[in-house]
This record gives sequence, C-alpha cells and structure tokens, in this order.
Amino acid sequence: MQMSVAELLQSENFLHDVTIKGWVRTFRANRFIALNDGSTINNIQCVVDFENTDENILKRINTGAAVSLSGTLVESQGKGQRVEIEVKNIEILGDSNPEEYPIQPKKHSFEFLRENAHLRVRTNTFSAVMRVRSALSFAVHKYFTENGFYNFHAPIITGSDAEGAGEMFRVTSMDPKNPATDENGEIDYSQDFFGKETNLTVSGQLEAETYAMALSKVYTFGPTFRAENSNTTRHLAEFWMIEPEVAFNDLDSNMDLAEDFIKSVIKYILEHCKDDLVFLDERFTKEEQSKPQLERSDMSLLEKLNFVVENNFKRVTYTEAIDILRNCKPNKKKKFQYIINEWGADLQSEHERFLVEKHFKCPVILFDYPANIKAFYMRLNDDGKTVRAMDVLFPGIGEIVGGSQREERLDVLKEKIKALDIDEKELWWYLDLRKFGTAVHSGFGLGFERLVQFSTGMGNIRDVIPFPRTPQNAEF
Ligand code: 4AD
Ligand code: MG
Repeated sequence: MQMSVAELLQSENFLHDVTIKGWVRTFRANRFIALNDGSTINNIQCVVDFENTDENILKRINTGAAVSLSGTLVESQGKGQRVEIEVKNIEILGDSNPEEYPIQPKKHSFEFLRENAHLRVRTNTFSAVMRVRSALSFAVHKYFTENGFYNFHAPIITGSDAEGAGEMFRVTSMDPKNPATDENGEIDYSQDFFGKETNLTVSGQLEAETYAMALSKVYTFGPTFRAENSNTTRHLAEFWMIEPEVAFNDLDSNMDLAEDFIKSVIKYILEHCKDDLVFLDERFTKEEQSKPQLERSDMSLLEKLNFVVENNFKRVTYTEAIDILRNCKPNKKKKFQYIINEWGADLQSEHERFLVEKHFKCPVILFDYPANIKAFYMRLNDDGKTVRAMDVLFPGIGEIVGGSQREERLDVLKEKIKALDIDEKELWWYLDLRKFGTAVHSGFGLGFERLVQFSTGMGNIRDVIPFPRTPQNAEF
C-alpha cells in the first residue's frame, strides 16, 4: 500500500509492508535515510540493511535523489521519531549528483535559494511556506463560498487603469519589426492590442463592481500586475489579489467584512497547519534574535497569529492618525525620515508601522482619507474633502488591505473623473452602473503575498511566492 510520509508518520499499522516514494534529505552512516515527499515538514526515517544491500545502490542514495523504498513499518527505537521503515527494497528513481546538487543539508541564504527558485521548495522553510500558502488559498475560497459570495474571474488583459496610478505593463500584439506608426512615423502604442491600448490588470475591482451590481456578493482571486520598479521587501511586479465587492454594503460593513475574513483564514491555518507553523515559529524567533533589540518583534509568530484572531482591529480616521503622528516621539533615538507636517500628506510605511507596532499595538483600520491622495472611485464624504477609503495595517507588514465604499452618484463621479482629466468615454461601462440601478456598494483588495508573509513570518515577499517577479527575478 502506498501512503504519504504524513500518513505513515501517523500510522499505527505496525509490521505492515509499505512503499514510500520521495526525495532523500540525508543519508547517514550508510544506514539512515531521511525521506521527504512534501506532505509534511517531518521526514520519515528509513533504515537500510547496508550489509545486504548492493554497494552500487548505496552509492546512489544521495541528497536530492528520488527513491522508492519498500519495507516494514515499525515502532522506532531511536529518539526523535515514533515510527520508521525497515527497508527491504530500494529503487533509485532519479539520481542526484552530490557534486552538482545545489540544495545541501545545511543552512543556505535566502538570496542563494532565490537563484534556485526551482529547487528551493525542497527545503524545510520553503515547503512549509508553500503548504501554508496553499492552505490560505483554500481558506479564502472556503470563507467566501460559505458566506454566499460568487467567485468572479476578472480579465487579465484590460483597457482600464483601475488605480489611476499609471503603473501598468503594456500588452502588445504588434510585430516589433512592423509596428503601427502615427503620422510622424513614431510607434503608435494606442494600436498595441489589435488596434486598442491595453495593459495587464492592476486590479480586478472595476470589473468586480459590475458583477456585484447583479450578483450582489462577488470576489476575485487572481494575479495582478504593477510596473513599479520598487525593490522593497513588500512589493512584487506580479502578485495575487483577493477582491471582494458587495452591493448594499457601506464602509462600516466593509470593515467588518475585512476583519472577519482575515481572522477566519488565519484561524484556518492555526487549525490545519500546526506542524508547519511550529517550525516557522522557531525560524522566526531565531531570526528576530539576530536583530537589534529595538527592531525585534515582541511576539513570536504563533502569538502574533493568535493575537490577530482574538483581538479587535482598532478603527481610526486618517485625521486622528495625523494628530497622533504629529505629536508623537517615534523612538528615543530615531525620528521619522519623513515628517508629517500637514493634514493631507500621504502616510509612509514608517508611519503606518509606528501606529500599528508602537502606538496601538494591534492591527489598525485607517479610514476617511483625504480625497486627493486616493483613487477616483472612492465615495466623497459630506465634508467635501475626505473619501470613504480604508486601509488595514498589520504589524511587520504595514498595509495589507486597501478598500473603500465606491462613489455611486453619477454626477459626483463624473465631476471627479473630469477633475482628474480622465476621458469619460473610457469608463462608459463603469458609469452605466451608476445610470442603471445604482446602489451603495463597497469592497477591498487584500494582497495575498502580504497575508502569506504575515502568516509565515517571512521577512521578504519574494520568499512567499513560488517564482517572484521583481526587477531582479523573472528568469523562470
Ligand atoms: O491598495 P491597492 O492598490 O488597492 C487596489 O488595488 C483596490 N482596487 C482594491 C479594491 O478596493 N478592490 O492594493 C490592494 C492591496 C494592498 O493593500 C497590498 O496588500 C497589495 O494589494 N499590493 C501589493 N502586494 C504586493 N506587491 C505590490 N506591488 C502590491 N501593491 C499592492
Ligand atoms: Mg493601497
């Protein structure tokens, strides 16, 4: 019977014959194979009867080799494991040359592993991160399905710039040798996509709004793209975004949804990814200890996750936050690099992290931002200068969610579009929603990788997505 390593490690079926396939992690003393098949952070110990095994086979049991082992499941006499396999037959499925295999049983730097993104998932840390990522993805669909949402697939190629920030990758079908040109002989990029200008989506929101205005509760979960050349630990050029959009929800209900949703998916992994989270918790603690005292997290990874699930997020207006930031001393030694002097300035990540990590010491939802620093589609408040925007800020991460109540009034939206010099004709379909059966509605976008980063305690966003797309990494 073939079972996974995870199943065998739980099994009580002692003295039964079993076959297991996986990759060799280590082979010690010509006798002990630590085998892993990705089903769990733990390896299964397989004991080889080396005196009765062909030497040519023994030589081929190298780290990284794929093998099939058959033998008897027994209670282990050794320390550190409950069961082991007494191996009777070894089949080498795929050799791994020890001189060349890059993933040796020692600590590799994350930089080195990023260069080997096709093999790094064979390490403990990356396999744990990717299992947690997969569980979170499942929890996202589970949450929305159980709460009456429909999954909506937003287009990847689109003519709209949802965020109005101009950070788009153009899509072209033009033949580079024979591009369309304008009257001056210059390349005419407006002809890019079979005669239209298009780009990779920066957000599925505007399209999701159209579906919310018919199906009431929808969500997207797909790749989004930002052509920002930023080399930070929290930005990718390609990332996955979850965007719920709900008809008849105002900003307060939107905040309730964001909070309930995040708590639910974190609770799911606390219940279903225990072994991986315990491993990642130890890794996180070691890494924190190597940091200067002032920069260390005062909670372990598991404490942080439990804290988020058990405590209310603090809801604060932008105006209140600015008052706090103006009057605070961020740190005895350090000042903010960027000092906030006036109302209306955009917050930098140092301010967001101060509010979350030092001032409130819990996740924070900032709302009612100045209209001029937020996107055109957000609903204008009665004060005429703030909009119904919200950002959810998390410890160690900063902004994890950005959302808003949308402007549902046709005249106000049109004025906003005009003021920003956006061509109304490009958004005719979006404006139609306000012409025909308009209603209060709201939604948000959660950056999936930032959620995975928070949940796994990984310091760099490039280490929570299989093949990171950044200005440096686009090879695979
Ligand atoms: O705040 P953003 O730009 O909001 C939107 O795109 C809205 N249209 C969402 C909506 O209301 N439906 O992005 C939302 C989230 C951010 O809070 C952040 O978590 C993540 O997406 N994000 C990124 N993650 C990784 N790399 C980047 N370059 C990111 N840019 C945004
Ligand atoms: Mg944002």
